[in-house]
Amino acid sequence: MFTNLSVAPADPILSLAQLFANDKSADKVDLGIGIYKDHTGKAPVLKAVKKAEQWLLETQATKAYISSAGNPDYNLVTRELLFGANKDLLGRSLTVQTPGGTGALRIAADYIRKLQGKTRIFIPDPTWTNHKAIFTVAGYELVPYSYYDVASGELTFDAMMTSLKGMKEGDVLLLHGCCHNPSGADPDLEQWQQIADLLVKTGALPLVDLAYLGFGNGLNEDAEGLRLLASCVPEMVIASSYSKNFALYRERVGALTLVARDTDNVTLARAHMMPVARTNYSMPPDHGAAIVAKILGTPDLRREWEVELSTMRNRINTMRSRLVTLLAEHGSKRDYSYLENQRGMFALLGISPEAVEKLRSEHHVHIIGSGRVNIAGLTEDNILHVARAIAAIS
Ligand code: LMR
Repeated sequence: MFTNLSVAPADPILSLAQLFANDKSADKVDLGIGIYKDHTGKAPVLKAVKKAEQWLLETQATKAYISSAGNPDYNLVTRELLFGANKDLLGRSLTVQTPGGTGALRIAADYIRKLQGKTRIFIPDPTWTNHKAIFTVAGYELVPYSYYDVASGELTFDAMMTSLKGMKEGDVLLLHGCCHNPSGADPDLEQWQQIADLLVKTGALPLVDLAYLGFGNGLNEDAEGLRLLASCVPEMVIASSYSKNFALYRERVGALTLVARDTDNVTLARAHMMPVARTNYSMPPDHGAAIVAKILGTPDLRREWEVELSTMRNRINTMRSRLVTLLAEHGSKRDYSYLENQRGMFALLGISPEAVEKLRSEHHVHIIGSGRVNIAGLTEDNILHVARAIAAIS
């Protein structure tokens, strides 16, 4: 079975870790995979998380199985975080805990295919590289839609709406809830409304990937587009993650939320979902979800987490502004001011793969081959070096 294998292509994001480890320069900077670093360049465990872990250690009395749906308290607080106090949405939705946001996307893919057979998914161009991989292995037909123009640094909203007019009932539309990965460019509320109207008209199903809630403008602000959509369309699927906003990356803490027409429909939908989880991984891992449930359900811990989240968000936004200023000061030929208006961890520099390679080999600045940079990896200590390097190659 293994003798005639060809060399497998490397993952465009994960493979950077080895290149970074091999780089022996003292100046090297890792702006590859999406991990938030604090002002000292470390990816810390949040204080609220440490406290919840301590509580868990002291009080957990059993490691017995829970269920394929995971922790019920976690599932409830997740829906409340997504939909706020909207009773209608809370009443016609359900959440199941999943192994990370990727696990949520994969079981969403399997679930939708199970219910309706061969399916097309409209995918933004550009998007997170793993989106294409997940929906390809799950057997979908991928239809890319224009989303963002790398040269101008702007959303291509009109072109997007034109491509999406081709959607029909049975199709899935993949959207990023906020802090679009890799561009950092999101629709405004008026544009979300237009997307919602088109979904209602065509009957296509929105699948929202929400991995960066709270990293853009705030917890409620970042959920506005998703909430607007959910209150307009009859059905919707949301894949969300606590990897970034709780810095729980390796614990794999995600959720799949289904919104149906009414409570009866949602109960039926849940029963069909459970076998999908059961045949993929049986049950999601407990530790991270127990921490999130404890923090979101305990007012003091929740306040502490929200402060830590706003520290992360503000630092990212400060780094965006600093980078724009430093790039201009160091004679960058490109006007990078668009970076300041975008949100979340990522931004596209609009440079060629050759320039990305030069950044790595000549300046020891490691970014993804598409020109995506992790703004959350910039610090006061490395930003000058990074700005000089980008100005030199662009
Ligand atoms: C990223 O885009 O860097 C993150 O979402 C991490 C990952 O799994 O790719």
